[in-house]
Amino acid sequence: MTSSQVKSGKYFVIVSALFLVQCMFGALLAHYYIEPDSFFGIKWIHDILPFNITKGYHLQLAIFWIATAWLGMGIYVAPLVGGYEPKKQGLLVDILFWALVVLVVGSMVGEWLGANGYLGNNWFLFGHSGWEYIELGRIWQLILIAGMFIWLFIVYRGIRAGLKKETDKWLKFSCIMLNVGLAGMVFLSLLPVGIIQIKEAFNHGYATSRSASFLQKDIVQTLLTWRAVPDTIFLIGVVVLVVFCIKALFNLRKPTHQEGEKLPVRDLSLDEE
Ligand code: HEM
Repeated sequence: MTSSQVKSGKYFVIVSALFLVQCMFGALLAHYYIEPDSFFGIKWIHDILPFNITKGYHLQLAIFWIATAWLGMGIYVAPLVGGYEPKKQGLLVDILFWALVVLVVGSMVGEWLGANGYLGNNWFLFGHSGWEYIELGRIWQLILIAGMFIWLFIVYRGIRAGLKKETDKWLKFSCIMLNVGLAGMVFLSLLPVGIIQIKEAFNHGYATSRSASFLQKDIVQTLLTWRAVPDTIFLIGVVVLVVFCIKALFNLRKPTHQEGEKLPVRDLSLDEE
């Protein structure tokens, strides 16, 4: 094991703890269906954690632990794919970990303060954004995005050497199609329609901007029709990815070790004795 792999261990402790807390909030939500204004007669629990805040935490924590598990897995696997441990990789893993802790604790405290009106006009930046599944305030969203980039950097450094071995032309082609298609969807269709929709919402209200008559406007219909082009490019990329995976399945390496045979890893269970 490398230093970064060992250090990824604490990510999974956080995953399980967040999972537990999330389920406890779920149980509280379930309880409120039976007793809407307190928890087994304990009023202050409901005062501190009414249904809406509990629901926000329940959804947000699901995102957090699933994302943390994904981050930890990527960090653990990277040296296995790349074949070596890059310099200071362990330090980066620790930095990302503490950034995550600040993010989870900070955003949750902020959501509570914001929803209770303690943040004044800063509620949008540090408090509860009001969006389901993206409850965290804008500053926390930006920290989350920064964390994702740090993670990409960690994983990229780890697997870089392994990537050079991936020269399959199907995989390359799929990657190009997926990215070109995605960029096309965003810039040719979703973004322009979104901008027109925001104008409509400003001028005639949110409901009008979501109405069938808005979607049937000529310009919107034209943009939505043309998204078929990038969508098709993206779909070709997905089909080629499936072809690559099926081809890879028939070219797997043969097993190098028999059942019951010892693998060339240090036996952790012996270590502990
Ligand atoms: C003991 C464990 C859990 C309990 C008791 C529980 C309970 C609940 C309850 C009562 C609701 C409905 C809230 C409402 O009426 O708005 C809910 C919603 C939800 N739960 Fe859980 N939950 C649990 C675990 C989980 C887990 C592990 C996940 C995901 C990883 C999850 C994801 C969700 C989502 C996404 C919703 C929102 C559904 C919607 O609004 O349409 N829950 N949960």
